[in-house]
Amino acid sequence: MTKTLLRVVVLASGFGSNLQVIINHAKEGKLSAEVVAVVSDKKQSFALERARKENIKSIFVNPRKFADREEYDEALRQKIDSLNPNLIVLAGYMRILTVAFVDHFKNRIMNIHPSLLPKHKGTNTHERVLLHGDSVHGATVHFVTAELDAGPIIIQKSFKVCSTDTAADLEERVHQCEYEIYPRAIKLFADGEIRVENGKVLRTGSN
Ligand code: GRF
Repeated sequence: MTKTLLRVVVLASGFGSNLQVIINHAKEGKLSAEVVAVVSDKKQSFALERARKENIKSIFVNPRKFADREEYDEALRQKIDSLNPNLIVLAGYMRILTVAFVDHFKNRIMNIHPSLLPKHKGTNTHERVLLHGDSVHGATVHFVTAELDAGPIIIQKSFKVCSTDTAADLEERVHQCEYEIYPRAIKLFADGEIRVENGKVLRTGSN
């Protein structure tokens, strides 16, 4: 019997290397999931180009056409609802989502963040790791809540920072962590192995 695949919509604004890793894993049958569309706020984003190359629906939603974030995210919500997704994956999506959008897809939006949350929320994480002299750095996959970079953590992967590391070195090593943990988190979700309870991610079967 063929298993129903989890329908994933990816939101991305930029280069889309995480998107590509997710697409590759899905194509190789490693995720029990399929990327049904890639949506972007940037017409020229390479993420949309990657989607087109893979024959995945690519959708540009132009922020200039909307008066404010609320209107934009409402249009985005309608577009995404029409795709009937089980999971929304943020892969370098650079807009902050409205509370209404996050509530609508509660516990069905994942994000990847380039730090060991709750450390270094927001941008320029690699520079801040160096500035603070942190001895470890890494990446976090979490569910998205209304509070920025603060939702329930699904997986983290860390590495030791070397004294010679530059921000570019850290970025490269964080990416390697991301390529490992993002597909793993999506698979856990697709296989029904995680759930959110009282703001924490629990493995199914655990209390
Ligand atoms: C990743 O480092 C991710 O943590 C952050 O944005 C970056 C996206 O990179 N949210 P890419 O577009 O997947 O190459």
